[in-house]
Amino acid sequence: MKRLHWIIIASVALSLLVTLGILYWLPPDCAQVAAAGFRPIAGNRLQRFLGKVPKATAGCRGDGNAIQFLATPWVDWQNYWGAGDAHSKGRPGSGEDQRGALGALSDLEYQRIELIRFNLFDNNGTYEQYVLGRAGVPGPSLKVWPEMRLAPGSPHYREVGGDGPQLCRGDLIRFRTVDGACNDLRNPAMGSTHQLFGRMVDLDDTFPDLGRTELSRNRHEGRLGLLQPDPQIVSRRLLTRLQTHPNECRDGQGLAGDSKDADCDYRKANTLNVLAAFWIQFMTHDWFSHLDEGHNAPQMEHTGCQSVSAAEAAKLGCRPDDVMDRALAADSGDPARFRDVSGREYLTRAWKTTSNNVTAWWDASQLYGYDANSRRRVKRDPKDSAKFLLVGGYLPVFRTGDPINPAWGGQEAAAFPDNWSIGLSFFHNVFAREHNAFVSAFREQTARTPDADCGLRDPSRPEQMVRYRDVTSDELFEVARLVIAAEIAKIHTIEWTTQLLYDEPLYRAMNANWSGLFGTDRELSGLLQTIAARLGASQRVAEANQWYSVFASGAGIFGLGSTKPNWNIRNVDDVNGGTNHFGSPFNFPEEFVTAYRLHPMVPDLIEFRELGDPDAIAGMVPVVKTFRGLATERMRSGGLANWALSMGRQRCGALTLYNHPAFLQNLPMPRLHAGTNLADVAALDILRDRERGVPRFNEFRRQLGLRQLTSFDDFVDIHTEPDSADRASQNTMVRTLREVYGQHKCDAAKIITGAQLAGDGSGINDCLGHPDGSMVDNIEDVDTVVGFLAESTRPHGFAISETQFQVFILNASRRLFSDRFFTSSFRPEFYTSLGVRWVNDNGPDGKQMERGTPNGHQQEVSPLKRLLLRTIPELAPELHSVVNVFDPWARDRGNYYSLDWKPRRGAQSDPAFRR
Ligand code: HEM
Repeated sequence: MKRLHWIIIASVALSLLVTLGILYWLPPDCAQVAAAGFRPIAGNRLQRFLGKVPKATAGCRGDGNAIQFLATPWVDWQNYWGAGDAHSKGRPGSGEDQRGALGALSDLEYQRIELIRFNLFDNNGTYEQYVLGRAGVPGPSLKVWPEMRLAPGSPHYREVGGDGPQLCRGDLIRFRTVDGACNDLRNPAMGSTHQLFGRMVDLDDTFPDLGRTELSRNRHEGRLGLLQPDPQIVSRRLLTRLQTHPNECRDGQGLAGDSKDADCDYRKANTLNVLAAFWIQFMTHDWFSHLDEGHNAPQMEHTGCQSVSAAEAAKLGCRPDDVMDRALAADSGDPARFRDVSGREYLTRAWKTTSNNVTAWWDASQLYGYDANSRRRVKRDPKDSAKFLLVGGYLPVFRTGDPINPAWGGQEAAAFPDNWSIGLSFFHNVFAREHNAFVSAFREQTARTPDADCGLRDPSRPEQMVRYRDVTSDELFEVARLVIAAEIAKIHTIEWTTQLLYDEPLYRAMNANWSGLFGTDRELSGLLQTIAARLGASQRVAEANQWYSVFASGAGIFGLGSTKPNWNIRNVDDVNGGTNHFGSPFNFPEEFVTAYRLHPMVPDLIEFRELGDPDAIAGMVPVVKTFRGLATERMRSGGLANWALSMGRQRCGALTLYNHPAFLQNLPMPRLHAGTNLADVAALDILRDRERGVPRFNEFRRQLGLRQLTSFDDFVDIHTEPDSADRASQNTMVRTLREVYGQHKCDAAKIITGAQLAGDGSGINDCLGHPDGSMVDNIEDVDTVVGFLAESTRPHGFAISETQFQVFILNASRRLFSDRFFTSSFRPEFYTSLGVRWVNDNGPDGKQMERGTPNGHQQEVSPLKRLLLRTIPELAPELHSVVNVFDPWARDRGNYYSLDWKPRRGAQSDPAFRR
């Protein structure tokens, strides 16, 4: 039996590898690559792949175009055949495009495997077990941790077993609990509210400005501090949007009466709209929050601008009197240490830790709550308590007595109400409507077939069929939460991300993450699922992690383990068995928050439109005039449909330097009662990462398995023409980086990192390959957010940088892999049969196909388009030609990943195309 099992594995592996491109490597120009075989997985982090391939591989996958960029620090797959727009395609019928795309996919899989292997650092007390193992089981194969037990203060403590062995069961495992406990039955505390953020970088290398290690002292030589280089000066010199008509922008305040004459310049992303910007803010409020009920620590601190004269401060626009409350910290004392058998010493946690004050699960906690207080903010309909209360189709406003931060008064009721604006109001209202649509559909089915089996099971009485009419309103509310969370995860994975990373390799990768490489081939996908589940259960590290990752991407992560033959709700291993935490309990790492500092996506002014005349801009609405409670009135007077149209048509801001919204640099913060009562959120993006010990950009890249930069000049994209305007502005950026961060005389005797080696196998030193004693750029000091915004070389269609993307590769997969409701518990017993269909088919009326073959693919109508058509049916004419809701709605998408900004047929008079 065991032998048969391995034969199956070997044959499926073979077919996978064939699919992954072996056959395409057989043509003569690829023979060398085929003969060399697969690149081995790095045995230690010094041997990492770095996204760089040998010359022959580059030639095979992208010919001269791929070879010419091999010496750059940037990943190679972006230069493969078919990875760009139509110009990147190979000769028809040559197989080149397939080699390019599959080569890119295999590079991405290598990176994921290495990230799983080298970049998991838990802060909750389990790291020592990860390194040393426990009871003969290697650390990366561990699946249960004593640190993930519930503490006596937890409301579920007794139910899970108190101070005896803990196991979630009964009511606790039916739905997503409010505080996130019991997603994993054997690790009840994992992912729950107030667990600590993890890290993606070696724990010793966190908090470089503390100078605790010789490497960090060598790297930065005392040049770093919380206010050094001055965060407000970094903000004003490198992040400010440059305005051609400052009087028509007025720091993002616009002009009276939403005048159309208002104008705030910003760099625009051609293939991403404003809905995409607010979508990601809506997501982050579900995943993480350092702030607790909108508060940081009580101590106030200056935020910079004190290193310059008053005259210079006035010229730059920074404010020496700005203060901000200090970031919250969980543990600030020195961490304990331990040693492995070789005597190497490790920290048990980072130098300081912080707490994630919401659930880490993708559980729609921004809508449904993450603790008792936030749940009390969720208003249910007294006429049908399975539904959200909607008044005239809109969420009600907070009432006196609701448990809120006073700053949120006047806003629509929401579980996570911080930093509210028109965009969050939009998504909260839309998903409340969708929740109610699901409940209504369930009620209608109940009316039609009250005695039929709805699919649900109560784990305390698993043998008893649950009829439609048996389902209580509370149960239905929680079922709807499961469905909404899964829909959100699906939209994010196959719609938002594929537009954010708009190219063919990522389209394939994200769809494979969700539904497998083999799409509709259920038999093959099912077989791969079974193999992945068995590999995941293995105690051998390579099987449990590396091969698991490969097989799970073949099968699709979503639903992993749910198709197991004879799946049984009584069996803990069936309910829980589809997950894999790779030896490190799931939570987001601190570096994940950094990668989501995407404030440049927000425009200062929204081009307001009305459905009656969609091609006209009726007014320019300052986002800041929709801040907090102001959003609520604007949403109701403008109407959900018009706001959808406005934010759907307008391009969001590009994620580059010189593009932070002016209003966010001058954000009113009356809660501070100190200083100017204004915050420069761009400066905060820098300051907070320093407070939380995120390594600076170059070390961040080395730690994550990307090649380092050796000077600011590396930020210039050599794909651009030397005499182009783009190149000129990149050269200006380089000069300003040099002025802000400076240079120093380098010392080749100083080794600066333990994460990588130089090309010749020696330690990387302070001179980064430049002559000893020469003046070199302080590239090591660049703040991570500044570095990733400065990255001009990006894969085609990438709104974010490759460094941010490296953070996503690991965590986007992990939040699916770790969640049983997206894997082995994605079943009717939890979601109901209607719920499972709703998620799989994007709604109640079966699968629907999009017209034509967008970018060469037959494609289902996208999940968010279906959802908008249900919740805002007035949008039907406008959505008719929309393929991806996050692509500007009136843009002509061209034929193959075009980034052009030109109108589709019928929208030629839209003035946005003349801006
Ligand atoms: C109207 C729009 C927005 C406003 C007013 C706003 C405001 C703020 C403020 C004031 C903070 C600082 C909190 C602190 O550390 O004290 C913050 C943090 C943050 N913002 Fe925004 N923001 C907006 C849009 C966005 C968008 C579109 C994103 C995209 C993902 C985003 C992502 C973040 C992240 C990741 C943090 C750090 C959160 C944490 O530390 O837990 N924000 N924002």
